[in-house]
Amino acid sequence: MRVVVYLVPVTLVFTLVLADTNIIFDNRQTIWEPVFRFYGGGNWHSQNDYILPNKSMDDDHDDDDRAQFRSFQMERWENERNKKVKLELFDDGRKVHELVFDGDFSNKTSWFSPQKLQYSSWKDLSSQFIGDEFSVDGDRDDDNHWTIRNKKSLTCDEEGWLTVVDRPRKGRNRCVCSYEDIDDYPAILYSRDSSKTKWSAGSYGKADMMQISISKYQQMQQPQTQAQPPRFRK
Ligand SMILES: *[C@@H]1O[C@H](CO)[C@@H](O)[C@H](O)[C@H]1NC(C)=O
Ligand SMILES: *[C@@H]1O[C@H](CO)[C@@H](O)[C@H](O)[C@H]1NC(C)=O
Repeated sequence: MRVVVYLVPVTLVFTLVLADTNIIFDNRQTIWEPVFRFYGGGNWHSQNDYILPNKSMDDDHDDDDRAQFRSFQMERWENERNKKVKLELFDDGRKVHELVFDGDFSNKTSWFSPQKLQYSSWKDLSSQFIGDEFSVDGDRDDDNHWTIRNKKSLTCDEEGWLTVVDRPRKGRNRCVCSYEDIDDYPAILYSRDSSKTKWSAGSYGKADMMQISISKYQQMQQPQTQAQPPRFRK
């Protein structure tokens, strides 16, 4: 884990420097552009704002703009070819988990599936997934989203890797397991281990932030707004 955490910023700096000198680089280099980012506890609905371009769709949830970032790229998702999609979880200022997916021919939600999974920092999670839920929609009855779950249980005995607990809408009866009974929504729950966790055991983590980034095919232009790294010449 540590190695990944430290290598990523270094790789990013090098990628930006190379991009600026117009060097044509090979396929191993990946330029990531964050397109969606949200923080836990902002008292708003994580999924509405991921799916829809405008906010406050639902009177139950007043959105706090400071709790999220959503790029215009989100509305281009199906018109342009994204090579890869990355999901990262951050907690206490460091990256704790990362998933990378094949993003080609996907829409905003379909990339998040085991068939497209290429890399997981959870070692027991792969495209050979045998759990019963792996989707952005998650468990609609309970208003849980971004759910990667091993098996649904009626006795709060569920095991999983990730789930974002949103506040249930009015009129919905969540069967509240202890881990879903949270004061500040949304709550980004994740397994701290290198494998799945049993939520009821209580040893899961609550991430501060979740970020989705895309990497386009290389003929695509880089955004103009990127900070200019220092130039160097050979
Ligand atoms: C938000 O966008 C949706 C779909 O694009 C549209 O149907 C809806 O009327 C919009 N809502 C507001 C408040 O602008
Ligand atoms: C995204 O793609 C999936 C699978 O192809 C499809 O079932 C779903 O309806 C699509 N969603 C949207 C919003 O187009």
